[in-house]
Amino acid sequence: MSTQLERLEPLRALVSPEEPPARVDRRMWQSLTPSDNALSAVRVELGKKLYFDTRLSKDNTVACATCHDVTRAFTDLRKTSEGIGGQEGKRNAPTTMNAALLSSQFWDGREASVEDQARMPIINPIEMGFASGEAAAMAIAGDPEYRRLFQAAYGSDPNYGDIGRAIGAFERTLIFLDAPLDAFLASKKQSANPEKHQDFGPDAQRGWLLFNGKARCVACHPLNPVNPIGSDGRFHNIGVAAKHQNFEALAVEALRALKQDPTQSKLEELAVATDFSELGRFMVTKNYSDIGAFRSPQLRNVGITGPYMHDGSMASLWDVIDHYNKGGEANAYLDGGIEALDLSESEIDDLVALLFAMTDTRFSALNAAEMQRQRALSKESRPNRDTELATRKKIPFDQRN
Ligand code: HEC
Ligand code: HEC
Repeated sequence: MSTQLERLEPLRALVSPEEPPARVDRRMWQSLTPSDNALSAVRVELGKKLYFDTRLSKDNTVACATCHDVTRAFTDLRKTSEGIGGQEGKRNAPTTMNAALLSSQFWDGREASVEDQARMPIINPIEMGFASGEAAAMAIAGDPEYRRLFQAAYGSDPNYGDIGRAIGAFERTLIFLDAPLDAFLASKKQSANPEKHQDFGPDAQRGWLLFNGKARCVACHPLNPVNPIGSDGRFHNIGVAAKHQNFEALAVEALRALKQDPTQSKLEELAVATDFSELGRFMVTKNYSDIGAFRSPQLRNVGITGPYMHDGSMASLWDVIDHYNKGGEANAYLDGGIEALDLSESEIDDLVALLFAMTDTRFSALNAAEMQRQRALSKESRPNRDTELATRKKIPFDQRN
């Protein structure tokens, strides 16, 4: 944890209680900050202490920072996460960078704010494992430093509700929106010559046109001054979970389990720890049209936060574009916005270059290394890759050519 703390300080934006961070719309910032948790330095300090504290797990081994590690782009870089006792969940850990700017939390949006979200891992049996939030608060209540900080921050003794609030306040300081893409867009606005951009080369520029045009990414990943993170906040089945084609049987079983125990903590457990995970938003709304649907993730810093998708099933951004290019994985609930794109190999490279140019410049070195690593990874399969197959111009059982 000490290495993480050392890395953290120079990275953090100095978010002032009054002003939204750079590139964040004032109204958006206000609407996402709960009225009972106005930002203050002492709340952030308390939240930071909690974020790195393994005492918030039942066996003292796991903190938020275990799975949202500062030195690993605020995630764990694993396919799916491992909690107490080495228990592995079914979902990939998103980054906590910019999480405070999302309109809902978790892949299925089952919590509304970072404050609400932060309380759930603590009581998730495979993550931090406390039987109740009160038990977690008890575990730190004897610490005089915590007693002092809770009093100063919220005028109370350590308690579950304020644990969530303080961690939420800390997460509001993890804003990373300063990428080569932003420099490019700013210079375009001033009609300077965008070709001069070192970190946003011609490939990324072509990628930006594809993103907003032929590849139609912008439909679900809008990225503009009002919405700087690249998520529409909505839920779509893009055919990632479609490996499970017995969706309906699974849904019926899930409804039964949710009826038996309709609490939020049961939903938390079922969503992360069981095969029901693949049902996505359906677990929250119980609408059949939400089967296999997940919230469009933010695209900021995506170059360094792999592997990708709710189940971490895609190792590189090339794999992600291949998925979109073939029109996803067919299933009865596939979003209408997903169709084969007919992108050429060089267009795929351009889109990937764009995605890597969405990483905050504070991570430039890591981003460059990661791009190289992913390129090598994708090349391993690429020389032999049947592009006709990958783009669905040919289907596996069709041997005509
Ligand atoms: C054992 C690993 C683990 C621990 C510990 C953990 N998380 Fe997570 N976190 C995850 C996983 C996995 C998800 C996705 C779960 C889902 O979507 O259902 C997630 C999701 C999130 C999200 C939602 C981000 C988004 O894009 O929707 C935030 C914010 C977050 N965690 C913060 C925290 C905080 C704060 C703590 C400590 C209180 C914490 N996490 C503890 C693994 C972990
Ligand atoms: C119909 C809506 C939709 C469209 C169109 C779309 N996406 Fe997505 N995107 C999503 C959803 C939903 C997910 C998460 C799916 C899941 O995990 O099952 C996602 C996931 C991703 C991820 C993985 C992010 C991560 O952190 O794991 C990347 C990268 C991405 N999309 C980029 C793109 C690009 C580039 C395009 C255009 C070629 C695009 N998307 C088009 C909805 C969409």
